[in-house]
Amino acid sequence: MKLDVPRFTERFGTISMHGVQRVYELDSGYKTGKSKSEAIRTIDNEVISEIEGKMAIVIPIKGERLKLLEGVLSGIPHDCLTIIVSNSPRQPIDRYKLEREAIEQFNRFAEKNSIIVHQRDPGVSEALREVGYADLLSNDGTVRNGKAEGMIIGMLLSKMSGKDYVGFIDADNYVPGAVNEYVKIFASGIAMSTTPYTMVRVSWIYKPKVSDNGVYFSKWGRVSEITNQYLNSVISYYTGFETEVMRTGNSGEHCLSMKLAESLTYSSGFSVEPYEIINLLEEFGGIIPTEHQDAMDKGIEVMQIETRNPHFHEEKGDAHVRQMFLEALGCIFHSKICHPELREKITSELQTRGLLDAEKEPPQLQRIRPFKDIDVALFSKILHEKSTSYLYCE
Ligand code: GDP
Ligand code: CO
Repeated sequence: MKLDVPRFTERFGTISMHGVQRVYELDSGYKTGKSKSEAIRTIDNEVISEIEGKMAIVIPIKGERLKLLEGVLSGIPHDCLTIIVSNSPRQPIDRYKLEREAIEQFNRFAEKNSIIVHQRDPGVSEALREVGYADLLSNDGTVRNGKAEGMIIGMLLSKMSGKDYVGFIDADNYVPGAVNEYVKIFASGIAMSTTPYTMVRVSWIYKPKVSDNGVYFSKWGRVSEITNQYLNSVISYYTGFETEVMRTGNSGEHCLSMKLAESLTYSSGFSVEPYEIINLLEEFGGIIPTEHQDAMDKGIEVMQIETRNPHFHEEKGDAHVRQMFLEALGCIFHSKICHPELREKITSELQTRGLLDAEKEPPQLQRIRPFKDIDVALFSKILHEKSTSYLYCE
């Protein structure tokens, strides 16, 4: 892959948050070596493949159409471990069973390593409880609903499988070629990074809208523009300089080094992606003392890389968009580092949009502690003994 080096970087404590980088060539050749220009980086296929071998790709899925899942599976490079964490309904039709059959069939031909598990499997909650990680559990003792919850189970499975990197790709993507590009972007970002604490976030070149008048190639999703605006405000309030650096606040497609992934605190549901940025600022921004001295010493890099493929996914309707809005802005609102003035702006933004009653605060979502100290060997043992949904294909 041939891409820009970052053109500008916001530094905040120990974090280097890079501006969006552009891709010039999706495939820059097998062994081309160094670019002549200092402004361009060429990441050889060999280097990309090596990183893919150390990477798990987690696909959170809840009731998506099987055809879409099958397409996504085919786009993931062979050397990555695919991990599907499903929260699909099991009644009246057992949609999880259909997903499991689809991946078994896919694997019979692809001969690839994959894992599938159901988020609400009592065996999963038992394993979590045994290792003292009840952060994902609801009052009834099973894992809560929510995308973040699925992602964290995926991260635990990645760590359990000895992977150094974990990437996320939504299951509702229409274009397998785009999925493939996301993983190449993850690997290229990792290859460019200079610290073991890295996050690579995908910025979509277009998010097309299909209407009677044809396809309109819009740049921004409905929620992402606002989320980015508020994330940038959080940064601006602290540096005293306005910034537009953050462009990927809601990006479901992103990748973390395991060292960074296991050190972060997460926020439930759909607030997980914007809260990753907030938590980075909370933990490593130099405002609040941190326990993660090694990360402070080595530094943290956040990269944002723009795709060449447009992002076509399932349109979920207004109720979903409202929930995303509330959860994304809610997690910014409740952060310790959110300036009181910004809190007022968030409240009035939500009220103007009819999402929040007067005198009320946005919802405070459950926080989920870092999983760094979890005994993954024990987690794995109990999961293998007790889970009824867990399947490892190879
Ligand atoms: P958007 O693309 O950000 O508007 O959100 P989506 O509704 O497409 O959700 C992103 C991905 O998360 C999709 O693959 C969903 O199927 C999946 N997802 C949503 N909720 C859950 C959940 O509770 N658990 C799991 N495991 N996946 C979920
Ligand atoms: Co989607």
